[in-house]
Amino acid sequence: MKADIGLIGLAVMGQNLVLNMNDHGFKVAVFNRTTSVVDEFLAGPAADTEVVGTHSLEELVDSLSSPRIVMLMVKAGEVVDQYIDKLVPLLSAGDIIVDGGNSLFTDTNRRTQALAAQNIYYIGTGVSGGEEGARHGPSIMPGGNPAAWPTVKPIFQAISAHVNNDPCCEWVGDNGAGHYVKMVHNGIEYGDMQLICEAYKLLSDGLGLSADQLHSIFADWNQGVLSSYLIEITAAIFAYKDEDGLPLVDKILDTAGQKGTGKWTGINALDLGIPLTLIGESVFARCLSAQKDERVKAAGVLPKRPATAFTGDQAAMISAIHDALYAAKIISYAQGFRLMREASKEYNLSLNYGEIALMWRGGCIIRSQFLNDIKQAYDANPALENLLLADFFAEAMGKADAGWRKAIILGIEQGIPTPAFSSALAYYDGYRTERLPANLLQAQRDYFGAHTYERTDKPRGEFFHTDWTGHGGKTASTTYTV
Ligand code: 6PG
Repeated sequence: MKADIGLIGLAVMGQNLVLNMNDHGFKVAVFNRTTSVVDEFLAGPAADTEVVGTHSLEELVDSLSSPRIVMLMVKAGEVVDQYIDKLVPLLSAGDIIVDGGNSLFTDTNRRTQALAAQNIYYIGTGVSGGEEGARHGPSIMPGGNPAAWPTVKPIFQAISAHVNNDPCCEWVGDNGAGHYVKMVHNGIEYGDMQLICEAYKLLSDGLGLSADQLHSIFADWNQGVLSSYLIEITAAIFAYKDEDGLPLVDKILDTAGQKGTGKWTGINALDLGIPLTLIGESVFARCLSAQKDERVKAAGVLPKRPATAFTGDQAAMISAIHDALYAAKIISYAQGFRLMREASKEYNLSLNYGEIALMWRGGCIIRSQFLNDIKQAYDANPALENLLLADFFAEAMGKADAGWRKAIILGIEQGIPTPAFSSALAYYDGYRTERLPANLLQAQRDYFGAHTYERTDKPRGEFFHTDWTGHGGKTASTTYTV
């Protein structure tokens, strides 16, 4: 009997997806560039399964039933193109190539179109959930050539996570839509992680709490509105002791790595002109953490942070930090969904925000209770401009406002950086301000460059230029804006 699907790339995600598919009754053929990995996989984790090992791409393709589905779980970038080039001559019209890595959505746009011209259907899919997710149910975000979806749908929806029997996998849209949504997911993941790290620093350095106390606080927060996978693992991390009985987290070097998806999200937000400040700050916070040697030097040169021990009501401050985390998280998702809204328009993606929230509700790294509230907000109003305008979130912001500010003030007073908490608040205060100081900015642009301005007492679209100095010209610059 031929295999239902072929998978190339037996690193941790690839191996676990194969085992997951096997568990669900699909016959999987596998290939890996270093072919000894195929044999080790078959002798080890895949022993006693139906998985078929192959040692060449020809053998892999020959082992598949038609239409063939070949899934790539390889490093994003050139490697994907190299495999596509090698596979195409071996495949027939109507066969499907799926890329399950973290590819840049513009690469997926290009590949989907190039392959459609050769009658090969292409799917670029986000797969989230790490090792555990891949093995027992990831969140899967497929996009690409819709003609391929009915063929892969039964496999993907069977192996994905489910919440209340709904699969955390739905067709996202044409071309790079799946990888676009996965990119934003990862940006939000960066934001969630940074927010938790800021809460940690305020609690540990600001309030002087121990890892064991942090464990209890995060375990407690995981029972309420912040309930999520990342809060849950954070609680577990604080409880984890090294061999000497001390918390392992205290011994980990404070330099963050990153593979680039958060940065791509930030770049895309700049391209589309959408404020995505919290994710941007989260990427930069990782960059600053990576400048370890320079920071150590600066710590020796610059004045020490104000060492004022906290003397207030500790429980009230813990609750304020909770509220700061919740409010800033709402801002992060509001910004992320706002970005997707713009992308949907700009790239014609027809994204369904409620479906996206549903796909992220289970299986993925940012899975949480909270995504349910987002789903409900979009169910109530699919055309919602910004999550902050939904009654539920507007009310939540009102409740968290005071604590959020208190937590940031603690950071300011004690010299503890809270870039994500603070930039989220700056966005919030800006978003709900009717009149920002951009009137002055426009005056400055007109003063030095005759860039013109609109007036509050004239209709929109009429542009004015003033000769501010009395010796400027009357010619205005063009009014185009990017
Ligand atoms: C997921 C994750 C995953 C990502 C890692 C590492 O959804 O399962 O987003 O796709 O690759 O979390 O990302 P960074 O190295 O950029 O932190």
